[in-house]
Amino acid sequence: MTGSTTTSAAWTALVRHRDDGIAPLGKLLTDDPGRATRLGIEVGDLWIDPSRQQVTDTTLALLADLADERSVAASFQRMMDGQPVNATEGIPALHTALRAPGHEVIRVGGVDVVPAVHATLDRMSDLATSIRDGRRTGATGEPITAVVSLGIGGSHLGPALAAEALSHLAQADLTVRFSSNLDGADLVEALDGLEPASTLIVVCSKSFTTVETLTAAQSARGWLAEGLGVDRAAEHVVAVTASPERSEAFGIPAELTFELPQWVGGRFSLPSAVGLAVMVAIGPPAFMELLAGMRLVDEHVATAPTLRNGPVLLGLIDVWNRSLLGRTSMAVVPYAHRLKLLPAYLQQLSMESLGKGTTLDGLAVDTPTGAVVWGTAGTDGQHAFFQLLHQGTDVVPCDLIGVARTAADPRGAHQNLLLANLAAQAAALTHGRTRAEVAAGGTPPDLVPHRTFAGNRPSTTILLPELTPSVLGQLLATYEHRTVTAATVWGIDPFDQWGVELGKELASRIAADPDGGDHDGSTIELLRRYRELRGT
Ligand code: F6P
Repeated sequence: MTGSTTTSAAWTALVRHRDDGIAPLGKLLTDDPGRATRLGIEVGDLWIDPSRQQVTDTTLALLADLADERSVAASFQRMMDGQPVNATEGIPALHTALRAPGHEVIRVGGVDVVPAVHATLDRMSDLATSIRDGRRTGATGEPITAVVSLGIGGSHLGPALAAEALSHLAQADLTVRFSSNLDGADLVEALDGLEPASTLIVVCSKSFTTVETLTAAQSARGWLAEGLGVDRAAEHVVAVTASPERSEAFGIPAELTFELPQWVGGRFSLPSAVGLAVMVAIGPPAFMELLAGMRLVDEHVATAPTLRNGPVLLGLIDVWNRSLLGRTSMAVVPYAHRLKLLPAYLQQLSMESLGKGTTLDGLAVDTPTGAVVWGTAGTDGQHAFFQLLHQGTDVVPCDLIGVARTAADPRGAHQNLLLANLAAQAAALTHGRTRAEVAAGGTPPDLVPHRTFAGNRPSTTILLPELTPSVLGQLLATYEHRTVTAATVWGIDPFDQWGVELGKELASRIAADPDGGDHDGSTIELLRRYRELRGT
């Protein structure tokens, strides 16, 4: 959406409404016991409860007006129709086409892209199945029993999260690992204990220019060659890329390359061939369930009315928290060990999408945009940063994500306690504890201020029945569309990431010419000390 966010009538009304003051959260909940039932939304299997956010019915109505004025619904339609919504790169953002059923027709430049999506899924499925049933052998005739996926950012975070979240479904006799960091220690760890003869390397890079991934791919190929010889090593490397000519130049032939469409953004690419390692781990049917879960939310976001539309409502509340209430960060706390990579995944999804200061019109934004996203699994987070959430000087809205059932704990001994902790934290953040309550408990007067909690700290609860592929897909698609909603209101491009380019460019200049004359004094001193420490 182009044009200024803050000149819209709904924005002006929202500012006035905020300035009139919002009742404390504790009061909102106490005065209206049905608030959670009324505001909560079921999106597929997810229960999303925004009742602990600092919003009233008036706030929500005004946010819905804002969504109308900023054409949120029409923007989703344009995105799903394959219009070039990634305006600064002049391409569509068609991640929804990756989970479209085979009969759907979605045209880009007059060509229906759905058949190619399904053809790639079929090729992935053939490879994954042949590995899973032991038919895919390596150059020496040994079956492939290990897959190591190399990639970074969007070519890593989604698959790593999904593989971990669904690890209870993984085939036990297969090893699936990921390596992203340029630090060689990461690759050493990923290859540790594996045999070249039974290992397949998947090089995931949309651009096939990313230094981290290509460096790891070279080293991994060297490791394979040491065990198998240079020629035979080539059979053990496949590519996932939007640039097959570059992967071919790297030495990976077309028949071992899986094409990632140019119109899929890296951070939206889990349901593409970037998810190949996940498909190997959990099997094609489970991978297709993941896609079906995402599809379910695509349909929901395209059809549900604004205030019953889970992702849209969450995106609007993000705008409210960030732009109107001035919250600079947001914590994500999954009360599920297997979702512990979710904060890292969301950091890229949200911060790479919303960390923009220029509108689609090329003007400076006139309101704060993307918040810092951070977090870790509950209850670990409770023993680390929750002190700040409860008593720090900044208010940090949180997403608290719970899971009802897990095969790891069928009787619920751990699960019941986990959920009790989630519920307790949400309530403590909401209501706090007054001075009078603390004093009444017999606390010595000098400790009363220290033991008082202001409360009125917002959170959203998301409850999942179980970590199935479909539920995971629903959760991730909800966050995708939530992110796009906020970007649409702000009038920024959520699909580009120009901000990562400068650092990349300087890194290659420094790596190529560490003694170059145009480095600043701090860089020169850093490099001098580095060389001294390395004795070079
Ligand atoms: O961090 C910048 C970025 O371009 C991300 O957007 C992307 O997901 C990642 O690098 C990896 O890019 P590629 O898949 O092209 O290697």
